[in-house]
Amino acid sequence: MLPKINPTHTTAWKSLHQHFAQNDFDLRTLFQHNPERFQQFSVKREDYLFDFSKNLIDQKTFDLLQSLAEECELTSAIEAMFSGEKINETEGRAVLHTALRDFSDKAILVDGKNIKPAIKRVLDQMKNFSEKVISGEHKGFSGKEITDVVNIGIGGSDLGPVMVCSALKHFKTRLDVHFVSNVDGNHIAEVLKDLDPETTLFIIASKTFTTQETMTNAESAKSWFLKSGKQEEVAKHFVALSTNIQAVKNFGIAEENIFEFWDWVGGRYSLWSAIGLSIVLSVGYENFEQLLKGANETDIHFQTADFKENVPVLMGLLGIWYRNFFDAGTYAILPYSQYLDRFAAYLQQGDMESNGKSVDRNGEFVEYETGPIIWGEPGTNGQHAFYQLIHQGTELIPADFIAYAKSCNVVSDHQEKLLANFFAQTEALAFGKTEEEARAELEKSGISEEEIQRLVNYKVFHGNTPTNSLIINELTPFSLGQLIALYEHKIFVQGVIWNIFSFDQFGVELGKVLAGEILSELKNTEPVTAHDSSTNGLIQYFNEKK
Ligand code: F6P
Repeated sequence: MLPKINPTHTTAWKSLHQHFAQNDFDLRTLFQHNPERFQQFSVKREDYLFDFSKNLIDQKTFDLLQSLAEECELTSAIEAMFSGEKINETEGRAVLHTALRDFSDKAILVDGKNIKPAIKRVLDQMKNFSEKVISGEHKGFSGKEITDVVNIGIGGSDLGPVMVCSALKHFKTRLDVHFVSNVDGNHIAEVLKDLDPETTLFIIASKTFTTQETMTNAESAKSWFLKSGKQEEVAKHFVALSTNIQAVKNFGIAEENIFEFWDWVGGRYSLWSAIGLSIVLSVGYENFEQLLKGANETDIHFQTADFKENVPVLMGLLGIWYRNFFDAGTYAILPYSQYLDRFAAYLQQGDMESNGKSVDRNGEFVEYETGPIIWGEPGTNGQHAFYQLIHQGTELIPADFIAYAKSCNVVSDHQEKLLANFFAQTEALAFGKTEEEARAELEKSGISEEEIQRLVNYKVFHGNTPTNSLIINELTPFSLGQLIALYEHKIFVQGVIWNIFSFDQFGVELGKVLAGEILSELKNTEPVTAHDSSTNGLIQYFNEKK
């Protein structure tokens, strides 16, 4: 089981508070006083460089954060997760997405049973099926090859595959993979508009197979298909990914078309499981296996590296430093790669559904901050949208900058320009522009002293905005697996230290239940009076206008 330690009661936390109050962590000064700072605060691994020297830390901060991890018993927590202990205590489940990418011979037990053979069986099933579809051997009802795949799922049954398929576009097979998630009928309507039922394969992806959005979209997809195909031909065009085999069968999908996974795979950690079938179809099984192997490389690093050079541990600790000591409420993810255009959206679920909690592992309401708001967009687009606020606004927004050294496509000097922006932004964020520098620049432009006085404050950049820089050698399925797992473990580290349960998501339930109740009121014409005046009024207005 996970330790149940209130982090604020540790000696390290108290020392960090004192240390925070006694220092100003000025990056200009820190870099000036220490020419070795980059070497001191960066980790170079075979496939990437993690530079955390532009953080508001000194050696003492670093040491105290390490002590915090030790006092919160992070080592035993890591061991508990990987060994299959039921650390998701509120749901009584193990947390073993890491087993899905562990190709070693080591047995992993859940309730005394080795889960490895079942994982292998489903992987083989995914491999065989995808090879048949990609090669054209698997045909649609009219004998034509499948050309399009539509994954119907939401949350973890959508965001991971969407993100990975976008990131690995460069490795695409001949199949076009589409995603439908929103219960807004316009989503499925727009996707199906250009598709042919004879050549379309639907993947119904739902861990529970009860999620309203997915079930509604699945039914609509089936109705669309049945306008051309027959009931007995559904088997050629519909497969399901789920833990709920009975519900899938009730929906009308044959047992051989079910790709199983298990309750020890959390929804937002499920892209490594059968939920990854859309990825396999999109990039081929070999690339999917590389993705798994990359994640496994990070798993081994996380389990074995000293915390001082353990990248997910460092990422997690630095995040805590800003959240709990600098009161930074948000954290930006800024990939300088168009291929990672859905990465921030993916991490929003990963991080916020995991660590957006306020009850600790002892069942008490916490008296300290937990998970921040995660957001972001790829650079350089973000630079022309919201960076203004990061540079000159009033919020401290720590950020991760991510880029690939090599580009998949060499297009004149785009790559150098992209990276020049990355380096310039992290430099500007760290060191800003002082009033003195701004004044000197204005003086050079030859304007009057009065004008200088009027403008100078607007030209100041406060700087001291912390960033991590992650430069990955190149974008491959393997390095993408490594990257995703780095963030998964960062989230885990933070959840352990905040003493919360990161693997449940009860906060999504209330809205679901209320929506179920309200739905019936949208389908009849009676005046609505059961709610508060606002909700009644909104429903009434909708019923009149729809
Ligand atoms: O949003 C809540 C949630 O339960 C997520 O955790 C999950 O990823 C998503 O809904 C989809 O659930 P399912 O795969 O069971 O349809």
